[in-house]
Amino acid sequence: MIDKESPIPIYYQLEEHFRTLIEEGKLQPGDMIPSERELSEAFHISRMTIRQAITNLANEGLITRVKGKGTFVAEKKIEQSLGQLTGFSEDMRLRGMEPSTEILDFKEIEATTTESRELQLNPGDAIYHISRLRLADGQPMALEQSYLRKNEVHGLTESIVRSSIYDYIENDLGLSLTHARQTIEPSLASDLESRMLKVEPHTPVLLIKRNSYLSDGTPLEYVKSVYRGDRYKFVTEMKRGH
Ligand code: GLP
Repeated sequence: MIDKESPIPIYYQLEEHFRTLIEEGKLQPGDMIPSERELSEAFHISRMTIRQAITNLANEGLITRVKGKGTFVAEKKIEQSLGQLTGFSEDMRLRGMEPSTEILDFKEIEATTTESRELQLNPGDAIYHISRLRLADGQPMALEQSYLRKNEVHGLTESIVRSSIYDYIENDLGLSLTHARQTIEPSLASDLESRMLKVEPHTPVLLIKRNSYLSDGTPLEYVKSVYRGDRYKFVTEMKRGH
């Protein structure tokens, strides 16, 4: 399996060996990877080479090192389609996961210049500011800062904010969210973000900004969120146009 005569570096061959085992499901999320010493003895290759392969697989997010415990196959990333305008709660439920929310802040504020620009209001107009930690099956997934137009999305309560805002907008207020514009940028978790998301400081994360609108173009929300880079993968379907 490892061909020492091959021009392909040994660490890379070892990486491919583990990639295949993970892809084929022979190694499952949570399974432990043997120690450097065990792998070195089993494959007759140096521990330094093993370490390089393991580091590359960890950087790729396929395996995770847990201090004092060992190295394990990482959980599969959540594949999030970018074509549909969906909310966190419905997304998680569709995957068979249980969404939950920790409210970090929820209050009525006066829109700053940025918020008023994003929501097409005047600075000082009343809006809601909501800061939430979103979890799936108890595991932190994303931190969200939402700004909502109070005129349209009126009557928010803690219990609504703890469950689904989209559900409230559509089913209680009877408004229909029709479209949104979203940007995704790579970023590194700040100290606060890494603490809340339970990842190492400076872990890669995705900074996502979304503006959502009603059919007549009225903006309802402006949301800045930080998603865990080790748990998310975004998928777009593309058509070739001429
Ligand atoms: C996602 C989006 C947010 C949106 C939220 C609504 O997380 N990134 O822009 O506000 O869903 O989710 P829910 O309906 O669960 O409150």
